[in-house]
Amino acid sequence: MNAIEASDVRVTLGGQPIVRGVDLTVPTGQVLALLGANGSGKSTLVRALLGVVPLAGGTVRLLGEPLGRAVPWRRVGYVPQRMAAGGGVPATALEVVVSGLLHGRRLRPPRDSHARAAAALEALGVADLRDRRVQEMSGGQQQRVLIARALVREPALLVLDEPTSGIDLPTQESFVRVLSSLRDAGTTVVVILHEIGSFAPLIDRAVVLRHGRVVHDGPPPPARGEHGDAGHDHTHPHADPGPPTDGPDLTLEVTR
Ligand SMILES: Nc1ncnc2c1ncn2[C@@H]1O[C@H](COP(=O)(O)OP(=O)(O)OP(=O)(O)O)[C@@H](O)[C@H]1O
Ligand SMILES: [Mg+2]
Repeated sequence: MNAIEASDVRVTLGGQPIVRGVDLTVPTGQVLALLGANGSGKSTLVRALLGVVPLAGGTVRLLGEPLGRAVPWRRVGYVPQRMAAGGGVPATALEVVVSGLLHGRRLRPPRDSHARAAAALEALGVADLRDRRVQEMSGGQQQRVLIARALVREPALLVLDEPTSGIDLPTQESFVRVLSSLRDAGTTVVVILHEIGSFAPLIDRAVVLRHGRVVHDGPPPPARGEHGDAGHDHTHPHADPGPPTDGPDLTLEVTR
């Protein structure tokens, strides 16, 4: 099955065509990086795929269902590019993550929600922030709480819009390890990135947008400092650094 099937997707914002006919099929279990310059339409495309902005044309199916009520939204995790700043009801990190377990008509989080939320915060290395208000956190801390909120759902499809912008390198690397364990469990991941960077070992496929159109769809560009020797079986002595020894333990329990 395909996690995403999008055909000729078009989005118009403020009278301007922003996404101009994108075809995108993402097979279950694939990790896809969506790349492109500022303003190329990456965020708008994923928002259209998730039904956050209306389509001006085209069709989208998520997890086998046409966009709308039939989509099992409980199994879809989304981390938007920026947290809605200020305003709103003050909420602690734990409360924000627990809210990731609410969906549709479920008004009360499941019984084990606090334990699951705490585990997700722990996985992102922010367990110590659980009772702090997110409004008082730094941008990078807020971002980690939002990622925990998406992960606590144990999604089948996870969509992340520049999840690591504003996050320091050690945390990025631990986040990549969290994503690896999700991928091993069969989660489909679409991640918008500016640079493949620490995500390189995870990415199966890269799609590059330019002016709202796909201009590249295929293997990810080689990470900086690597040579294009993918055609033969040469392995570098440093290719497999083995299990990480520094940073928090980010093994996420993924049970589906
Ligand atoms: N609500 C809106 N009304 C009008 N234009 C919009 C709206 N939202 C986005 N745009 C325009 O659509 C274009 C694409 O924006 P989008 O946020 O999708 O780009 P992006 O590729 O995600 O960029 P970035 O890398 O900076 O996040 C931009 O030119 C932007 O100004
Ligand atoms: Mg964007």
